[in-house]
Amino acid sequence: MAKTWRCAVVGSGLAGGWHVQLLPTLENTQLVAVCDVDPAHAKAAIESAKAPNTPVYTSLEEMLGKEKIDILHVGTPSGDHFTPARTALERGINVITEKPMEITLERIDQLAEIAKKNGVRIAGIFQNRWNVANRAMYDARQQGRFGRIAWAGCFTPWYRPDKYYQEVPWRGTWALDGGAAIMNQSVHAIDLLQWIVGPVKRVSAYSSSRIHPKIEAEDTGCCALEFADGGYGTIMGTTAMFPGGPVRIEIGGENGTAVSEGGLRVFKFREERPEDAQLLERFVPPMPDIWKKRLAEAGGPAVMEKLGLNAAVSTAGGASNKDVKIELHVKNVRHILECWEAGRDAETNPAEARKSVAIVLAFYESSRRGGDAVDVK
Ligand SMILES: NC(=O)c1ccc[n+]([C@@H]2O[C@H](COP(=O)([O-])OP(=O)(O)OC[C@H]3O[C@@H](n4cnc5c(N)ncnc54)[C@H](O)[C@@H]3O)[C@@H](O)[C@H]2O)c1
Repeated sequence: MAKTWRCAVVGSGLAGGWHVQLLPTLENTQLVAVCDVDPAHAKAAIESAKAPNTPVYTSLEEMLGKEKIDILHVGTPSGDHFTPARTALERGINVITEKPMEITLERIDQLAEIAKKNGVRIAGIFQNRWNVANRAMYDARQQGRFGRIAWAGCFTPWYRPDKYYQEVPWRGTWALDGGAAIMNQSVHAIDLLQWIVGPVKRVSAYSSSRIHPKIEAEDTGCCALEFADGGYGTIMGTTAMFPGGPVRIEIGGENGTAVSEGGLRVFKFREERPEDAQLLERFVPPMPDIWKKRLAEAGGPAVMEKLGLNAAVSTAGGASNKDVKIELHVKNVRHILECWEAGRDAETNPAEARKSVAIVLAFYESSRRGGDAVDVK
């Protein structure tokens, strides 16, 4: 019989709350406890997960001492993943952290070492790798269908009101968020860019806070970059563009171009395959609301569903951090469990999770130096 993983969550705010919600729904996980320094957050999470009898703790040590736990899911602020993750790993408990795994490379590398030393595993969440449009682009790249890449870019044109930063004081701070729009929001798309295209060699960046003067770090930034294979690229990220739109990933080379933006917009190769057109049809970006309304009036949504249209699942996040759907988190966690059961590391292991953080840190270093080119470590 397949193993049942006994899971606990530490830090049960927005993202930790998604883990609390998904754990009771998976076939091979059991939610055994939730810990949060603010017990009201833990209680709200277990209630919305319809698991109100789950034990709640305010001390991680106490939870780990009392409960039998196989995996600790870490949903504390990004710059405070290290302490709970290390505490669990040193007790022989596996760890799944939210993105980014941590905000420095040293801490990510140390966590990998501690896991190894204690014979357990650690993996991160980068749920957008399980978005069908992004995975189709990844597969095309793996199959060499783009040829030599000329240029590739990622754009995160999001919006967060002042309230977003004011209501949760760690957001936008260097110590706990590790930055702001680039480390917190754009890191998703930066991970996708480097995962699909390949390693980034150096960046030349600019960033500052354009409309959120009270936050320590940037709300807007962009960079030119050079990939290790010589191609060029761009990263743009902001939380200052009202009303916020979907993430866009764009890749083009000698034999093809692909664009994802809430779904697949372009997927065109010199060597065409019949499944390309099918992919484009199936993973068409979501329709504008006005079209949906007209279609609904004409009795159309059932027809759309029947045809399997609009099947792309995306974490929009454009205008709010609350419009993220948890399907991709479910896929990411399922993948981690499958790998661990098979005795291997997950795709989002520390060596992978550190790559986007390395790019973000080079981005910040370059920006501090007025746009000088900085090599990615
Ligand atoms: N994958 C995604 O799409 C996604 C989306 C949002 C946030 N995140 C990530 O999730 C993490 C948390 O972000 P959030 O927006 O959910 O934050 P949040 O502020 O909503 O939640 C953090 C929670 O941790 C608790 N907490 C803080 N320090 C703690 C400690 N030492 N021990 C126990 N509990 C503690 C807080 O009380 C709060 O409930 C961040 O790393 C963030 O980057 C990921």
